Amino acid sequence: MADSFWWQHGVIYQIYPRSFQDSDGDGVGDLNGIRARLDYLQWLGVDAVWISPVYPSPMADFGYDVSDYRGIDPLFGTLEDFDRLLGEAHARGLKVILDFVPNHTSDRHPWFLESRAARNSPKRDWYIWRDGKPDGAPPNNWISHLGGPAWTRDETTGQYYLHSFLREQPDLNWPNPDMRAAMYDVLRFWLDRGVDGFRVDVIWLLIKDEALRDNPPNPGFAPGQPAIDRFLQRYNADQAGVHDVIAEMRAVLDGDNERVLIGEIYLPIERLVTYYGTNLRGAHLPFNFQLINAPWTASDIARLVRDYEAALPQGGWPNWVLGNHDRPRIATRVGEAQARVAAMLLLTLRGTPTLYYGDELGIGPVIIPPEAAQDPWEKNEPGLGLGRDPVRTPMAWDASAQAGFTAGQPWLPLHPDHATRNVQKLRDDPASLLTLYSELLALRRQRAALSVGTFTLIGVQGDALIFAREHGGERLIVCLNFGDREQPIALPDLAGATLLLSTHPDRVTALTNLTLQPHEGLVIRRA
Ligand code: NOJ
Repeated sequence: MADSFWWQHGVIYQIYPRSFQDSDGDGVGDLNGIRARLDYLQWLGVDAVWISPVYPSPMADFGYDVSDYRGIDPLFGTLEDFDRLLGEAHARGLKVILDFVPNHTSDRHPWFLESRAARNSPKRDWYIWRDGKPDGAPPNNWISHLGGPAWTRDETTGQYYLHSFLREQPDLNWPNPDMRAAMYDVLRFWLDRGVDGFRVDVIWLLIKDEALRDNPPNPGFAPGQPAIDRFLQRYNADQAGVHDVIAEMRAVLDGDNERVLIGEIYLPIERLVTYYGTNLRGAHLPFNFQLINAPWTASDIARLVRDYEAALPQGGWPNWVLGNHDRPRIATRVGEAQARVAAMLLLTLRGTPTLYYGDELGIGPVIIPPEAAQDPWEKNEPGLGLGRDPVRTPMAWDASAQAGFTAGQPWLPLHPDHATRNVQKLRDDPASLLTLYSELLALRRQRAALSVGTFTLIGVQGDALIFAREHGGERLIVCLNFGDREQPIALPDLAGATLLLSTHPDRVTALTNLTLQPHEGLVIRRA
């Protein structure tokens, strides 16, 4: 693997810092908590952590509303705590990726305070201000991603400002060169401290149509969908100019390709892959969320893997994501038994996997009573099932009262079965999903075919997806049963093949007349 970068052969683990480990009893996770759990991450076998925002923030959107890009919110600790975490992670060979939130600041950021103060403020143009329509209506029909209009009228000057998310999250005006330079300095600030890269929040939204034209109505919109879906995102997203911005960010990171630039992008495959940039000068890893939205059948997954592989630009490195802090958890989407197949899929496809904390325990649905709701999206558009609280609940470490997460009251309830579904319990259980994750991660580390090998789709047989990974003369076959029935598999040349791993610990090794058990996945090594 000497000829690949860490962000290519490694596995990324996303930590939602409010919910990983609390060290001071306030019910919210923090940096010292993460540091205390580095042993676990090392045992699990991941290579890098991406930590969702920990900067000073009024927490209107739980850290995605940043009021100072160069600090740590006291809720999470101090800059010294951060440096210690980074130092100890590095000492264990773990990389640390920060969340960079460039589309918007908090409305309490000093830049916005200055910008809103007067029409002729030197920072006026750092944000997007417009007059309302003659009748006083907002400048256009854009909708916030978290519900309601994307414009708020500010009394001070009588103009509207744009916010693609909450009104507490005013959008920065990326065409402004001074603002751009200030944001690139933020990247340098953290790079100089030693971070290994950034996950860039909503990177595909950074540039807007110059004329701020109205978006066309979405003919497919149906009641029950979030308000943002009422219109097609034609003029507020995926604008050509965004690629120059990304290339500039990339240039700030550049040197030896040891610092990674990851972009959050929700677009169809053919648009997504343009974010690798001209001559691969864009994002190293434009996040690939296809598995999050796909119907969970062997043929649907086969099709999307084939389409993605075919669409990748020459030299563009693939990546796969099963879940994150915005989307329903994998075990909720596909069920507990299929979550094992999903784990094997994520860790055997070609490309960098990103694993979401708690998915390795198989955390499933969590009911958040309305009075416990925290997520502003849930509050803005209640009852549609959009709320993100259920996927942000605390990590469970042991069978104690608050699962070892906090000595206080957790900011969100724990999953109902935390007394049995926790790290301590599952780690000792050879049949647990957590054990399977650690075995898969170990296998991926041992077998370069899994991390950097070629990918060949062998095909779909009934409910089973079958593909090969190959490197340096080693040929591995992965068979995954997406169904709940036994699935016979016909594969030539299995003579002398060995079973490396099954999702089902009770499998007897026999590979002749191969039949997958319901929800079973296998990694086989050809002779
Ligand atoms: C995407 C983040 O993942 C989400 O949690 C957040 O609400 C929005 N961007 C706004 O920053």
